[in-house]
Amino acid sequence: MKAAICTAYGPPEVLIIKEVTKPVPKDDEILVKIMSASVNSGDARIRGLRAPGIFPLVMRILFGFTKPRNPILGLMFSGVVEEVGKDVTAFKPGDEIFGSTGTRMGAHAEFATVKAEGVLAKKPEKASFEEAAALVFGGMTAIYFLKKAGIDSMQQPKVLIYGATGSVGAAAVEIAKHYGAHVTSVCSERGVGLAKSLGSDEIVLYTQQDFRKLDAQFDIVFDAVGKTKKKDASDILKSKGNYLTVGGMDVAKERKEQVEFLGDLFDRGEIRANIDKIYPLEEIVEAHRYVDSERKKGNVVLKIQS
Ligand SMILES: NC(=O)c1ccc[n+]([C@@H]2O[C@H](COP(=O)([O-])OP(=O)(O)OC[C@H]3O[C@@H](n4cnc5c(N)ncnc54)[C@H](OP(=O)(O)O)[C@@H]3O)[C@@H](O)[C@H]2O)c1
Repeated sequence: MKAAICTAYGPPEVLIIKEVTKPVPKDDEILVKIMSASVNSGDARIRGLRAPGIFPLVMRILFGFTKPRNPILGLMFSGVVEEVGKDVTAFKPGDEIFGSTGTRMGAHAEFATVKAEGVLAKKPEKASFEEAAALVFGGMTAIYFLKKAGIDSMQQPKVLIYGATGSVGAAAVEIAKHYGAHVTSVCSERGVGLAKSLGSDEIVLYTQQDFRKLDAQFDIVFDAVGKTKKKDASDILKSKGNYLTVGGMDVAKERKEQVEFLGDLFDRGEIRANIDKIYPLEEIVEAHRYVDSERKKGNVVLKIQS
């Protein structure tokens, strides 16, 4: 099968396309024909071994010391079940699924094996494979942080999303709207079209206005790009308000229920996939370069098979 191989930790050019052996599922695994996979900031961080504090060391322990132990990167995917291990009852060949491969990675290839009990769900009926793959990364992260902030137990909360046009930020706006929030989105001029289309109630341009001095009080300030500090929100948070950031030491936990929830929200028309660009697998280097730019709007997807 064809796969994108990460030959070392480093810039996008460490990735090459190669023919490798198709994996074989263990008894509790499924073999997935990967249709699409996202290329997200998580994939780029692993490839470049880029993370704050002691995380690069943690990543070396988790993924391999000198280069990724599994040279095929790729966390979030959609695809079709090709084969199931003998203990698997939850899925059967032909099922269309989407989800995360987790720390084993491997989704940037024509086939990957995943645990049947892993972070997977049936693909939303109304989603294309490209859309399903795009939903997972930002969607799961946004659900994790917004729920941690208590959004699901608040009445019409006032929420500020700082960095509302990335993968996490765009999903956060839509998920906050699902919970009945009044959403203020902070973005640049380049993101206004997307921020409006996501349902933002107010838009603040970070190029023109300092969000720290807004004349408003929020229940939740969520920094979805990790560019602010808690003290930046001190004048705009209600006394019991919560500040959260993707830029700290907190790593979003991945749960099967999050993927199922995202699928439901998509089929109900409450969230979209927000795809910026789609690349063929052969253009993996260009896809990583674009993700590295930190300018993408929403999600970047690899179309691997059709
Ligand atoms: N802690 C965790 O568990 C966790 C989980 C997922 C992601 N993350 C981290 O979260 C961050 C965001 O991830 P992502 O995938 O959503 O990123 P992304 O899609 O690459 O974000 C790009 C977007 O951010 C906007 N942006 C860039 N600089 C900005 C600034 N100074 N102020 C406001 N907006 C800005 C850009 O818009 P403009 O170009 O228009 O400014 C662009 O639309 C990454 O650092 C990632 O590693 C952490």
